[in-house]
Amino acid sequence: MATALLMGACARQPPRAEAAPSQPVARWAELDVARAWPSASAAFPSRGHGVGQYLIDVRVEPRYLGAYRNLSRGQTLPVGTTLAAFHRDRDTGAAASIYVMQKRSDAEWEFSVADDEGRLRPQQSVELCSRCHAEAPADDLFGVPRSPAAPATGMPPGEAPAEAQLLDSGSVAK
Ligand code: HEC
Repeated sequence: MATALLMGACARQPPRAEAAPSQPVARWAELDVARAWPSASAAFPSRGHGVGQYLIDVRVEPRYLGAYRNLSRGQTLPVGTTLAAFHRDRDTGAAASIYVMQKRSDAEWEFSVADDEGRLRPQQSVELCSRCHAEAPADDLFGVPRSPAAPATGMPPGEAPAEAQLLDSGSVAK
């Protein structure tokens, strides 16, 4: 017992969030479908994810496309809506993480992160996602930019969040 404890204490402690290497990797089931969904706008430099390094292309299931495109302050999208944000490196064009929001109830969006091949990253903390999106103007959503140069809905340039990183983008690069 004492020996085990001692060994435990001496063992190098990996970060808690790290998944065991042998753990099977779940895939985001809707990825292939989502890739075929229409883009809500032309890809634009993301202001919320990864400090200007990524182009973001938000895909929306066709039946919710109009509602998302025309979203304005205070409006909501129906329960069941799924939005998939595909990212690309602005310099290299390399595909990066896919950020997903799925509306589970009137009060709850589920956030998830997959790599560019759709492998889910369950260990990824999504607390930051919901904290930042809670500040968004409409139903936790920022929406599409109203003009090519303009920020996403209701997001004055000075207020664009600066600290957001495209989480784990480094490890996703192939
Ligand atoms: C610091 C703020 C911030 C954080 C953290 C953040 N986002 Fe975003 N997100 C934004 C902004 C701003 C946009 C609008 C597009 C842009 O400029 O990036 C956006 C757009 C999106 C969209 C398109 C829907 C919309 O809001 O119009 C999805 C999907 C999304 N984010 C998912 C996520 C996920 C998943 C996470 C966590 C892994 C996350 N976001 C973390 C700020 C953030």
